[in-house]
Amino acid sequence: MIPYESLKTLNRPFEEKFKSKFAGFLDKGWYILGEEVAQFEQEFAAYHNEKYVVGVANGLDALILSLACCKFKKGDEVIVPSNTYIATILAIIQSGLTPILVEPDSRTYNIDPTAISSSITARTVAIMVVHLYGQCCEMDPILKLAEQHKLKVIEDCAQAHGAKYKGKLAGTFGDFGAFSFYPTKNLGALGDAGAILCKSEADYIKLKQLRNYGSEKKYHNGIIGYNSRLDELQASFLRIKLPHLDEINMHKRRMAAIYTENLNDSFIKPKLDPDFYNVYHIYNILHPERDRLKQYLLENNIGTEIHYPVAPADQLALKDYLKSFDYPISAKIHQQTLSLPCSFAHTEDNIFHITEVLNKFYS
Ligand SMILES: Cc1ncc(COP(=O)(O)O)c(C=O)c1O
Repeated sequence: MIPYESLKTLNRPFEEKFKSKFAGFLDKGWYILGEEVAQFEQEFAAYHNEKYVVGVANGLDALILSLACCKFKKGDEVIVPSNTYIATILAIIQSGLTPILVEPDSRTYNIDPTAISSSITARTVAIMVVHLYGQCCEMDPILKLAEQHKLKVIEDCAQAHGAKYKGKLAGTFGDFGAFSFYPTKNLGALGDAGAILCKSEADYIKLKQLRNYGSEKKYHNGIIGYNSRLDELQASFLRIKLPHLDEINMHKRRMAAIYTENLNDSFIKPKLDPDFYNVYHIYNILHPERDRLKQYLLENNIGTEIHYPVAPADQLALKDYLKSFDYPISAKIHQQTLSLPCSFAHTEDNIFHITEVLNKFYS
């Protein structure tokens, strides 16, 4: 069986270092907001050639705390793609704001910049872009619109560690870049973890308060905060993996290139464009008989996933929160998308084999 993902295989190269870090961690006896978190924040900021990173508990909180920094008013509108993972929309709703869903481009799966302006109203305060599947959004026109309408830009980078648009890293375009280090992500922890990259020192100071009960100094709480701290142990594991992020991304790009070059044209493959450095968090194809294809691969001992089987507009949880439920482009993606194995844990032989099986689907 070739599984869709194997975290055990993925993390095997780092296991010895994890074990020795854990031994040191027990020795030290400092569990929350210590040196490892501070060092990771600096190193993750340096990776992006930026100054300010704040570690938080997970990717959802990274989005919520970014919004909390902005002092928006209840009911203000935030633009978000209609085909994102539900976490992006939940962050907006949990912040008392209104999500305004905008369709993606049918070939990049990312928010269609030309569809944004017609959704901007007097109440719009932010655009929350999502660099889905490891491919950056087309940021130039989005940033231009944000500037024209004085909107904040928050980037959901949960699937895009190290992805680039015109040579610039995901997370460095907007006011905030929100990252998840959920174990399957390109930079994945051994549990939940997240971080926010921000541009201004004022936001940096506020985010550090927000993640720790709103306290600036122990037991002195200046603002209403959360408990959303990046775990010290997870930070230490992330520090081991961060120097390998580019290698992990290059591996995934090699696996993706095998699919792209060898899969026949009955499958719609991710669009190639020299402006976009895709890190293939997910390598997806579109196929009209997606469910039969998934079953066929399973019968051939190949695991796949669907990101995502249910569109946000069809989620029961969102039925009282959306202004429209009609998103045909998004609906088609959700019906036809299939994610193929494309992990640091897979070998070129695995991918050539999967490609061969796929190309025989109709024979
Ligand atoms: C696009 C996107 N945004 C946000 C999140 C939330 O991250 P977390 O699970 O760390 O809260 C995820 C996680 O899968 C995601 O894929």
